Amino acid sequence: MKHVLAIESSCDDTSVAVLSWNSQDRWPRVIGLSVQSQNEVHERFGGVVPELASRAHLQNLLPCIRKALVEAQLELSDMDYFAGTERPGLIGCLLVGHTAAKTLSLIYEKPFISVHHIEGHLMSLFIEDEPTLPRLVLVASGGHSSLYLIKSPSEFESLGVTLDDAVGEAFDKGAKLLGLGFPGGPALDRLAQKGSVKAYKFGRVSVPGFNFSFSGIKSDFSRTVAKEGVTMANRSDLAASYQEALVGHLIDKLVAATKETGVRHVSIVGGVAANTRLRERLNQLHSIGEIDSFSAPSLKYCTDNAAMIGFRAYRLLCDGFYSSLDCDVGSTSRPKVRHG
Ligand code: KG4
Ligand code: ZN
Repeated sequence: MKHVLAIESSCDDTSVAVLSWNSQDRWPRVIGLSVQSQNEVHERFGGVVPELASRAHLQNLLPCIRKALVEAQLELSDMDYFAGTERPGLIGCLLVGHTAAKTLSLIYEKPFISVHHIEGHLMSLFIEDEPTLPRLVLVASGGHSSLYLIKSPSEFESLGVTLDDAVGEAFDKGAKLLGLGFPGGPALDRLAQKGSVKAYKFGRVSVPGFNFSFSGIKSDFSRTVAKEGVTMANRSDLAASYQEALVGHLIDKLVAATKETGVRHVSIVGGVAANTRLRERLNQLHSIGEIDSFSAPSLKYCTDNAAMIGFRAYRLLCDGFYSSLDCDVGSTSRPKVRHG
């Protein structure tokens, strides 16, 4: 039996996972998983404060490691590999988990695997299922909005990225204007269910290829809110119409990508994958035969978690990659340099 301990700390969730597999297994099993969110640290600021987030990771990491190991009924000395998230993310946050994983690999003299966070999100599709490939995957969260083509469990092609805000960030900023808490996406989703999607029209943006842009929709929404004010009478309509514009933009790009690539299996990952309207629109596309299948991992694997980092680490190991201890974290998504 082999074991990897994986750490995720790229934004505001500290997470540790223990995965195990034997030589006949195609995929590992998640035998321990802990996630500590920081919503209570950031909610009064209405957004993630990087300095506070990295300090909270420092406080949360050791308890999270302990919790995952207790659940797995294993010790650090039982681990064969250590993995940590390298990029993209907040530098101070990435440094905490990445450095801890490197330190453990030094102490226990076991290989270290440095993992790209978005590649981790893509691998979350393989944790509970063996998805049909090739497949288009929308990664939509508070930190990212990108569209990928998964050709094989080791081959990902980036088709498009957001040119400005992430869609989750747009949800959160809209929610803040409506006086909802942080993170506001889920609250806006609930409020929108009582409103009309046709009450307002918020600017559609035209961006090239399969890239996204949410800043125009957001500014348009903010102007309308400033002009009309938020009242008990209009807030659910504002929420529903704003959500419709954000989701509509995601769906338009996804549909264009199915046409261009001919790939008609679709998945969504990231926190925004919880959105009711996004799921509804994808189910509609499936029922009218525009796409062949639609899937999303369980919510605990959609949001930032270390199980997906462990899955990506496992796959890198299968492909013969491990990382040098001098590899560094990075805020951007540039393709990682692999060693070994
Ligand atoms: O993946 P995640 O937990 O963390 C990162 O941002 O990486 O995603 C959190 C984001 C937040 O922006 C949150 O508002 C959004 O996902 N979110 C939603 C919903 N649930 C979470 N946005 C829209 N509708 C939801 N139901
Ligand atoms: Zn993420």
